[in-house]
Amino acid sequence: MNDALALPVGTTLDRFIQRKQEDFPFATGELSQLLRDIVLAAKIVARDISRFDQDTVGHMNTENVQGEQQQKLDVIANIRFIRALRNGGEVCTIVSEEEEELIHTGNQHAKYIVAMDPVDGSSNIDVNIPVGTIFAIYRRLSEANGDGTLEDCLQQGTRQVAAGYILYGASTMLVYSTGNGVNGFTYETSLGEFFLSHPDIKTPKMGKQYSCNEANVSSFPLGVQNYLAFCKSEKYSSRYIGSLVADFHRNLVKGGIYFYPGSTKNPGGKLRLLYECNPLAFLAEQAGGQATDGVERILDKQPTALHERCPLVIGSADMVEKVKKYMTL
Ligand code: AHG
Ligand code: MN
Ligand code: MN
Ligand code: MN
Repeated sequence: MNDALALPVGTTLDRFIQRKQEDFPFATGELSQLLRDIVLAAKIVARDISRFDQDTVGHMNTENVQGEQQQKLDVIANIRFIRALRNGGEVCTIVSEEEEELIHTGNQHAKYIVAMDPVDGSSNIDVNIPVGTIFAIYRRLSEANGDGTLEDCLQQGTRQVAAGYILYGASTMLVYSTGNGVNGFTYETSLGEFFLSHPDIKTPKMGKQYSCNEANVSSFPLGVQNYLAFCKSEKYSSRYIGSLVADFHRNLVKGGIYFYPGSTKNPGGKLRLLYECNPLAFLAEQAGGQATDGVERILDKQPTALHERCPLVIGSADMVEKVKKYMTL
């Protein structure tokens, strides 16, 4: 049984993390501290986003390694999370969407690696649409007496120790898993606390909503085009925010499917394996859903580069199964 079931709605996140740790007699508390560090940065970024002023909205005149124009908040959030992880002391090395190379924190004895998308959906910031932060946590493979290595960062998704996201929406939410179910917490701004609001989230096996950028349909693989036609024939609803975290969160709770397959423009897909696909695939599976690139389970993929992209089909188990069948016909 998921031990979180024992904790009632309204439990503070801090208490929840502490109780989780008590379930592991040999736990040292380092992962708990790391989660707290992420939460601290999330609170600061939530505040930055809600300011919605000229210091936080708009773009920089810079590009990241993906060739995307950086928004001010991409840069601000990147700094906030790196600073929190560096000061917290539990992370030796970070992979960030916004930085080409590995970021070494100087915490050479720390055991953990974090891969993160500091602001997901950043093109939506200036129109006040929900955005998110995505994170994946790995235990380093190298000895804990130096910087983390590339090999430490290119681990398969199955090796994630924890993963989660923060959704900065009408309310700010943290949804995360340490491999024993998925739990969601809602931020109460006036108290500065996250409270358990969505214990042990399970994705319905079947949903009636699909999310994709339909403008790309003519360059989707034929199987995905046929699946899309099937969705329409079944009168499913189309829901696409354009912030992966927000689209994923809706489908996680209500049931549904999200796909961003390869296309002529982005043959290898658009989304990034390390800090978008893997952490969300971990959560999807922990909630009873599935995630595939169309051929291979996302979590089984062996990463070969920090910023590699991959096609993503993710969501309710029966719906993902159906796409897989369409793709092999
Ligand atoms: P990011 O803002 O972190 O670069 O991620 C952008 C991603 C994701 O959030 C979103 O679902 C997707 O790009 C949207 O892509 P399209 O605009 O091509 O639909
Ligand atoms: Mn980006
Ligand atoms: Mn993103
Ligand atoms: Mn981003």
